[in-house]
Amino acid sequence: MSDNSFGKVAVLGAGTMGAGIAQVCAQAGSTVVLCDINDEFVQKGMQRIAAFLQKGVDKGKTTEEQRDATLARISTSTDRAAACKDVDLVVEAVPEKLELKNGIFRELGEVVSATCVLASNTSSLSLAKVFDGVNGPERCIGWHFFNPVPIMKLLELVRTDATSEATIEASQAYGRLLGKEPILVKDSPGFASSRLGVCLGLEAIRMLEAGVASAEDIDKAMVLGYGHPMGPLKLTDLVGLDVRLAIADYLREELGLEGFAAPELMRKMVADGLLGKKSGQGFYAW
Ligand code: CAA
Repeated sequence: MSDNSFGKVAVLGAGTMGAGIAQVCAQAGSTVVLCDINDEFVQKGMQRIAAFLQKGVDKGKTTEEQRDATLARISTSTDRAAACKDVDLVVEAVPEKLELKNGIFRELGEVVSATCVLASNTSSLSLAKVFDGVNGPERCIGWHFFNPVPIMKLLELVRTDATSEATIEASQAYGRLLGKEPILVKDSPGFASSRLGVCLGLEAIRMLEAGVASAEDIDKAMVLGYGHPMGPLKLTDLVGLDVRLAIADYLREELGLEGFAAPELMRKMVADGLLGKKSGQGFYAW
């Protein structure tokens, strides 16, 4: 793989996003180690990847050989430092907690090689804070993928003031190798995608709360009237109400805009465990 400068990749976090990222990196020919805090989590991530690849075979989109080769390129680990020691790239996709992400990158900055690129899949947190105090800030960058990762074409690259041109260029090249179209965005709350997408989702929940229309009809308004592939309530279910609530609270605080204040209905649903697709029930039954 001459044009792949990231032959060895570590993906931290084996949830929905981490598993998808590991899959697309392996599909592009990289050797990937998928890492999480316990074996149950990494095995669930591997099952998710295997199931997606199998669905691809069933649909005639993937050959059995491609499925097997992709799976063979992914190994698992619960030892983060050991998994990252020799890799060219780390992509972090752990829960959206600033202290957690920053702690991981501070630790890894001392462990990885001097040229290893450190990427965070945060969907809204300040990258300057995520990478605060990390050794080698020029190789640190945001790589924001979209759910479902193997299907969605966008890769939102987020640069801090310290990110080097070389890091950006290598990220753009690898993003294209993954079959993604990279966009480049300045480190600012919610970047380009979450700031717009979350705003629409919150307003849809407020409309549902106020009885403007049913969930189905609010979604239909955007699908049939605006050509969105999926309505904002169904999309909130897909992403997870808890994930979107955390983003909304963060953006409300950072941007100081009332439009990002989370509706009571959303807080109640999260408190009741109605998180969307992953819990089986959100605005829709899954
Ligand atoms: N392997 C290979 N290809 C597959 C596949 C698989 N397992 N599963 C699906 N595909 C392919 C399909 O064959 C199809 O390809 P073609 O267009 O070439 O026919 C394509 O992927 C779409 O799949 P489906 O037809 O099965 O599904 P769909 O048409 O119902 O679309 C969807 C599903 C892609 C999720 C679509 O509804 C969509 O785009 N929804 C919006 C998703 C979105 O907005 N995501 C962003 C969320 S926000 C986020 O993630 C950021 C954050 O930080 C919170």
